[in-house]
Amino acid sequence: MNKARKAAEVRLQGVAKRYGEVTAVKPVDLVVEAGSLVTLLGPSGCGKTTVLRMIAGLERASEGKIFIGGEDVTELSAGERNVSMVFQSYALFPHMSVRDNVAFGLVSGGMGRKEAHGRAEETLATVGLKGFGDRLPSEMSGGQQQRVAVARALVLQPDVLLFDEPLSNLDARLRRSMREEIRALQQSLGVTVVYVTHDQSEALAVSDRIVVMKAAEIAQTGSPRELYEAPDSVFVATFMGEANHVKGEIARLDGSDAIVHLDGMDLRLPARGLDVGPVDVVIRPEALRIVPAGTPGALAAKVRTATYMGAHAEYNLDTPAGRLFVISPDPQVLREPGAAIGLVTSGHGIFVVRP
Ligand SMILES: Nc1ncnc2c1ncn2[C@@H]1O[C@H](COP(=O)(O)OP(=O)(O)O)[C@@H](O)[C@H]1O
Ligand SMILES: [Mg+2]
Repeated sequence: MNKARKAAEVRLQGVAKRYGEVTAVKPVDLVVEAGSLVTLLGPSGCGKTTVLRMIAGLERASEGKIFIGGEDVTELSAGERNVSMVFQSYALFPHMSVRDNVAFGLVSGGMGRKEAHGRAEETLATVGLKGFGDRLPSEMSGGQQQRVAVARALVLQPDVLLFDEPLSNLDARLRRSMREEIRALQQSLGVTVVYVTHDQSEALAVSDRIVVMKAAEIAQTGSPRELYEAPDSVFVATFMGEANHVKGEIARLDGSDAIVHLDGMDLRLPARGLDVGPVDVVIRPEALRIVPAGTPGALAAKVRTATYMGAHAEYNLDTPAGRLFVISPDPQVLREPGAAIGLVTSGHGIFVVRP
């Protein structure tokens, strides 16, 4: 398989989309570095697909400019942009062989059948489907059909490859292996990918950078680690993984730290640029450690439910600061409902965000 012709940067400047009264996407600025994989992550209806379709040229931006590889493509049609899209439904032609499906874009672009078939076979080999060219899509499993859809996009040697929820029709186990395949393929080909999903674990697994969207806007952009460990809102924190959030108050600042008061506990946490006053405190389930009741400085808690999960234990706890969900790495000592315990911080996964 030939390398993608050239990896291209994708740049959106103030790109917005309105359908009459509906604002599907408010003006967004976004840079996808050449050769990187950037994921648009967010709940259903937040505008992910619309952004993707504007990059593809399938929708016209209501305002703003789109650049691919430094070229202003805002006014270009989909056919004039060197971009391929893999759809959620795969959109394979059911009556055509797998080979003809993959070769379709080349043939309709004017390439001779023989050469197109040769390229299709090469690309099928790239996605692990050597020898499957004669089959019909209906004779392939869901995961194989997904790979055919990827091959059909790759064969065009696009500067940019777009994926819209490509794994949502697959079962959980297959989703996990397919997302690894897509990531490996993207890295070996060095192609620029914009990937849409509403699944945070998929986004964490495949992305160089993640753009979290909320209600037609970008909520936060960062690496998987930045978004999980340093989200700047409760929305992003809870979208990136399980999180408790409780009300707190920054009582005073001490250098770059904040002394944070929760009902039942005082904490020293990075201030993250926030000032004295009310804050939200986000607590990951793994951020608190169970200690004996009465341990000095510990948050007093009472066990509501305790669940043995094999590799860990899960607790729902009542505390003066509110109900907390806590994951304990030690399932061997399972506390009983009603038991009084203490909670101390484990040193990570707890932070203040703007209320
Ligand atoms: N063709 C359209 N006409 C009117 N509204 C649309 C159209 N396409 C999308 N929308 C609206 O734009 C918003 C964003 O949609 P979409 O980009 O599909 O979200 P997502 O992919 O994040 O689920 C939604 O409110 C949706 O109803
Ligand atoms: Mg969508």
